[in-house]
Amino acid sequence: MVLRLKIRREKEKGKVYYESFQVPYEEGMTLLSALQRIKEEIDPSLTFRHFCRAGICGTCALMVNGFPKLACKEQVLPYVLFGEELIIEPLKNFEVLRDLVVDNEKVIGKIKELRLWIKETKKDPRIPPELSRKIEDSADCILCLSCQAYCPQVLEEKYAGPLFFAKLYRFYEDPREEDKALRISQAIKEGNLYHCLSCNKCNLVCPKEVEPATLIRELMQTMDVYT
Ligand code: SF4
Ligand code: SF4
Ligand code: FES
Repeated sequence: MVLRLKIRREKEKGKVYYESFQVPYEEGMTLLSALQRIKEEIDPSLTFRHFCRAGICGTCALMVNGFPKLACKEQVLPYVLFGEELIIEPLKNFEVLRDLVVDNEKVIGKIKELRLWIKETKKDPRIPPELSRKIEDSADCILCLSCQAYCPQVLEEKYAGPLFFAKLYRFYEDPREEDKALRISQAIKEGNLYHCLSCNKCNLVCPKEVEPATLIRELMQTMDVYT
């Protein structure tokens, strides 16, 4: 059995083309292992990101037939059985650096700018279990960028996007965050929370079931009094 892939290549800036590959199927093969096989045995120049191989680090997200997926979690057997050729492309809504690697510097810069972490405090760091459960989905975000790649609204420059609201939700609800006014301002003024279309596309693609659209709706309801 053989896996057929058509991969978007961009070895040189602006020189885009699609290249077809065939990889012999091995039991348990994931899309990431297929890409590694191509790199090791067919074309060492094929460029993609990966690290943990276990759905934890979030680096291997790419577009599979137009849908963001984690390559290390994507089993290829169904595609092999149906003889379907997979179209593999870099994440949408990001600048491509090379082949399947996108530029995530702006996202990292925005995380720093918004201070998406809790400042060190001398307070007791423990929180009640019910609050911990409330923020655990948001805290599960692995920054894979899949939601940003599938959100139709992120092309509007002023809209922060689902990743940032999923993170902001955690810090807004976490009792250890002392500056709630900052989080409200970041969501409403800087991030334009209310520009969300409530289309739920980000919920569909999140591999960690963070459900950014659901968290955004909750933020909209609780922050309504501040608008
Ligand atoms: S629900 Fe909002 S954040 Fe999610 S994809 Fe739609 S517009 Fe983007
Ligand atoms: S919210 Fe989900 S899809 Fe978006 S970056 Fe976090 S883990 Fe990825
Ligand atoms: S390699 Fe870490 S999430 Fe896929």
